[in-house]
Amino acid sequence: MLKNDMLERWDRENFFHPSTHLAEFARGDAPHRVISGGRGCHITDREGNRLLDGFAGLYCVNAGYGRSEIAEAIAGQARELAYYHAYVGHGTEASITLAKMILERAPEGMSKVYFGLSGSDANETNVKLVWYYNNILGRPEKKKIISRWRGYHGSGLVTGSLTGLELFHRKFDLPLAQVVHTDAPYYYRREDAGLSEAAFTAHLAGELEALIEREGADTIAAFIGEPVLGTGGIVPPPAGYWDAIQEVLARHDILLIADEVVTGFGRLGSMFGSDHYGMRPDLITIAKGLTSAYAPLSGSIVGERMWQVLERGTDENGPIGHGWTYSAHPVGAAAGVANLRLLDELDLIANAAETGAYLNAQMRAALGDHANVGEVRGVGMLCAVELVEDRDGRAFFDPARKVGAQVSAAMAERGVIARAMPQGDIIGYAPPFCLTRQEADTLVATTAEALKAVLG
Ligand SMILES: Cc1ncc(COP(=O)(O)O)c(C=O)c1O
Repeated sequence: MLKNDMLERWDRENFFHPSTHLAEFARGDAPHRVISGGRGCHITDREGNRLLDGFAGLYCVNAGYGRSEIAEAIAGQARELAYYHAYVGHGTEASITLAKMILERAPEGMSKVYFGLSGSDANETNVKLVWYYNNILGRPEKKKIISRWRGYHGSGLVTGSLTGLELFHRKFDLPLAQVVHTDAPYYYRREDAGLSEAAFTAHLAGELEALIEREGADTIAAFIGEPVLGTGGIVPPPAGYWDAIQEVLARHDILLIADEVVTGFGRLGSMFGSDHYGMRPDLITIAKGLTSAYAPLSGSIVGERMWQVLERGTDENGPIGHGWTYSAHPVGAAAGVANLRLLDELDLIANAAETGAYLNAQMRAALGDHANVGEVRGVGMLCAVELVEDRDGRAFFDPARKVGAQVSAAMAERGVIARAMPQGDIIGYAPPFCLTRQEADTLVATTAEALKAVLG
């Protein structure tokens, strides 16, 4: 195929890339890579380089690239009916079928699915539903949302506020006043190194309780959390964390939103992270793995206790004033149906559990004792390597050195993608669920080589 040699110039002159250093990119000082194809766990760029994608795009191409079953479903739906809306009781075969399939897989107590397009807009919906719920219950003051530092919930106005990463707030006038943050369940980075995991969990529950008391429980509507911190560093919670947190929430009549944009549909080796950790959420956010990113689609799964109140609300106030043109878009829904079927047929969630455990074990065996590795951690098909300057003193590198970014760049030079997580020198892995043991070995070996190249 002939290549358009103007493409790099067009890219730098016209394209506003998300989460990018705009000035460096425009000057040509930042990488420009155009991806042109994908099969299984590999992508190909326009220069013909084949890379092992250890992060499944943005931990979303869970079924792997090049799945003709999903592509055909999308094409078939577009040919048959590219679009119809879902307002005032309308639907399509694909969107109704997908809602049923999601609820068959969802944790107990879930009632309905509202469809959006991105994880951010699904969390925006969740916050609106929580506010509506408390207004219907006659508690107009009970509106604040507690999120965690290092949580990631999107980059809209309210969702960027929920996100507990400084970069997403700075110069954007965020967080909004309705959002308050509590401590991250990040055992490796605990202040008091002497705390056991159980004592750290008790400390976090105590901090949450203190925050609620400071703000007043009658002003706090909901708590939002990812079962496993994702963008904030890929951090599984300390032992007993979700039990302890839920106990506090129940005492103060605070709803729980489980943000399962990353963990939903198998990333932890179980269908939902809520099942994995015994969470009993009122709302579950889903996106990414719902369609394996073959088409944009997200959802808010609404629990029974909220649903009853939403119905009452519309009896009292008329139809719910919330919806988008593209809610439940049939092309996205067709992709979702085909994707969930494929996960079942190929038993990909079991592979995420098995090969994910292998990846974590091999990474730990290869790098666990490295002088600059503070921790290797993970669960299911999620893994992280946290780099430190001094392992014994738990001293982190000066962020200005960008050690994590250097390591991930050195890996890319060797044909492997792992993500330099945005806060800390943390290398993250979240491959497609079809990863083989051999590919897992390549991820591990390339990480070791890159560490040697960057740190000696
Ligand atoms: C846990 C979580 N929630 C929400 C989002 C936001 O999703 P989106 O980027 O589709 O808006 C993300 C994105 O990475 C996420 O990881």
